Amino acid sequence: MCGIIGYIGKKNAVPLVIEGIKKLEYRGYDSVGFAVKTEQGIIIKKGVGKVDEVLSKLDFSEISGNTAVAHSRWATHGSVTQENAHPQMSSKGDIVVVHNGIIENYQALKQDLTNKGCTFTSETDTEVIPNLIQNEMDSGKEYIESVKSALKKLEGSYALLILNKNNNILIGARKESPLVVGFTEDGWFFASDIPSFLEHTKKVIYLHDGDLVIANDVFKIYNLDTGLEVKRKIATVEWDAEQAKKGVFEHFMMKEISEQAAIISNAVTQDMSKIKNVAETIKKARGVYFIACGSSYNACLSASYKFAKLAKVHVNVALASEFENYKDFLTPESLIIAVSQSGETADVLSAVKAAKEKKSRIISIINVMGSSLVRESDEFIMQNAGPEICVLATKSYTSQLVILTLLAYALADKLDYGVSKIKETVNHIYYLTSENTRNYIKDLAERLRYANHIYSIGRGLQYPTALEAALKIKEVSYIHAEGFAGGELKHGTIAMIEHGTPCIVFTSRETEKQIISNALELKARGAYIIGIGPNNNEVFDFFIKVREAEEANSICQIIPIQILAYQLAILRGCDPDYPKNLAKVVTVL
Ligand code: AGP
Repeated sequence: MCGIIGYIGKKNAVPLVIEGIKKLEYRGYDSVGFAVKTEQGIIIKKGVGKVDEVLSKLDFSEISGNTAVAHSRWATHGSVTQENAHPQMSSKGDIVVVHNGIIENYQALKQDLTNKGCTFTSETDTEVIPNLIQNEMDSGKEYIESVKSALKKLEGSYALLILNKNNNILIGARKESPLVVGFTEDGWFFASDIPSFLEHTKKVIYLHDGDLVIANDVFKIYNLDTGLEVKRKIATVEWDAEQAKKGVFEHFMMKEISEQAAIISNAVTQDMSKIKNVAETIKKARGVYFIACGSSYNACLSASYKFAKLAKVHVNVALASEFENYKDFLTPESLIIAVSQSGETADVLSAVKAAKEKKSRIISIINVMGSSLVRESDEFIMQNAGPEICVLATKSYTSQLVILTLLAYALADKLDYGVSKIKETVNHIYYLTSENTRNYIKDLAERLRYANHIYSIGRGLQYPTALEAALKIKEVSYIHAEGFAGGELKHGTIAMIEHGTPCIVFTSRETEKQIISNALELKARGAYIIGIGPNNNEVFDFFIKVREAEEANSICQIIPIQILAYQLAILRGCDPDYPKNLAKVVTVL
């Protein structure tokens, strides 16, 4: 899960890749590095830390060139050190690469190259790539052929940008890691994600697995296996650069939380034909399987309750990373609904591939146009939530819930009613994300900032919300948080409750009686009870009112916790946009 960007063209590439890599930092921020093709050869500068920290120590004032690459790293192979930062160079110094992905056969390749006299300075898997290319060239192949034969020896995933000291060619290649090309009059950008060059162009090509791009004075795409040139459609990005910026907010996380009312309003006013078509496909399927990870999984779990209750449709929900253990009962009549904000999550792509081997049909709900999952799907519904830069899923989670809730209503032939119920929540969501509410929740954050454990419980639709609440809190504030079904309390977790232990209790009209009795069990053991729902109750020590919205409760009730998680992070000195050890897209299995 790293970020890469490159530029080749008429402009000085240095400021372009510096600005661009800053916008990719959410993909990895252990270390960052740059390589610039200059008259004197390829100059590499890199360091450990976030982009701004490293840039403050690097001097680019004397460096310019028309071709450059940059990389922000999320460590997979090799610890966070200067040597392991990218770019990585061949031991002879001719070839330099930046890489996002994992080379699974790197040990064997490294051993073979070492036997041939290559020396290695890093612990990374990536370092075998420039040495493999160099080795092919040393055996007499010309450069492009050397790159092709080297790439064919790689097993695993890569999005690669390759420079050669002895020419002015920038090569890009992708296999199971995203790589997008941005077209301008003056040259071409190559990057992991669009926001890195969006202010320069909206004209993009989403490269496919197996594409090899050769750019110098001209730009050509080849298929690595056939060697034949391929033509890819130039698409126009619908986002604008502003949307990929923080605006008046200090962090992307609060900006994206605040966008939810508008996004939900858009989602219920969009063309419903896609929703209706997918609902028809679901009705014809024999076996429906949701697959997703993290927050997207919680959204799917929430949907399973709605499909059952509203449409009496049984769906299975599986963590994508576990799904391959189920694949043996898939048939061509099975329907897989893959839900993924990024459309690049390796676990999801791997599960989808396994399902396609069984000839099952794939429908996806995705936020990033042109992502790998779009291409792997028979049908897809775009979330249209705009770029989500913060590592935490907030607006993408609620926009997934909107689409899944509408699907459930469509299956029950009550789509118009569902649209109206969700529309009714929009004003309340504006209120929930208002300054007034944020200040009220800040008071709660102050009370919880030193907690070691926070628990969240819910019943029915509020159970997935409890899971999502715990995920939000722990991944950004690093407070241990656990979400579970209210009925499970007595089956173990209640042993953990001590005096003052914070417990978030999600209530609704339907589950109020039972969940309040769970809250009383917690209270009897000294817990500090935070109630979230339509009605206050004497058992609550702190209450956040969220109006009853029936199936849309799952959309509204998570918002106060998104805000709470953000405020806990700030109080605890954590970076809400770049939580430690996490990256926005998990492109490794
Ligand atoms: C959510 O806050 C996390 N960032 C993470 O769990 C995320 O939801 C998960 O990695 C799935 O990502 P996707 O929707 O892009 O597949």
